[in-house]
Amino acid sequence: MTIPTVLVLNGPNLNLLGVREPGIYGHTTLADIEDMCTASAAEAALTVRCVQSNHEGGLIDAVHEARETTVGAIINAGAYTHTSLALHDALKSYDHPIIEVHLSNPHARESFRHHSYLSPVAAAVIAGAGAKGYVHAMEILAEELSTPTT
Ligand code: DQA
Repeated sequence: MTIPTVLVLNGPNLNLLGVREPGIYGHTTLADIEDMCTASAAEAALTVRCVQSNHEGGLIDAVHEARETTVGAIINAGAYTHTSLALHDALKSYDHPIIEVHLSNPHARESFRHHSYLSPVAAAVIAGAGAKGYVHAMEILAEELSTPTT
């Protein structure tokens, strides 16, 4: 039996977590977060595919690739959250639950961070919980996936 896979997708500058503005984003590295996601997924009998890209097209390619190979996605698109209609469109063709995550709370920050192109296609949004937000996202996703749709 194959274990269902969750896409954990991180966008631009998130490869610098741990050193980038730690007062806002914390000291946890992306590798730490990916390990946390792997452990949390395993508790729900899921596995993860972790992808990080600094490029809009790289994120879109990862979503397309995941359409047939994953059962859900946890996405922190970084600044593309606020700008990318193209990523929004790609996610509209992703027919599985999506949880949007932000380490910080964009609504408590500059006004240009208040709009999200991802939220309209997300089943849930977790913001401001730091790295633990990814674990909460995995728990919510696991619950979504175990809930019958009819
Ligand atoms: C972020 C918030 C975005 O506004 C910002 O551009 C990021 C990170 C977060 O995780 O808090 O790169 O998505």
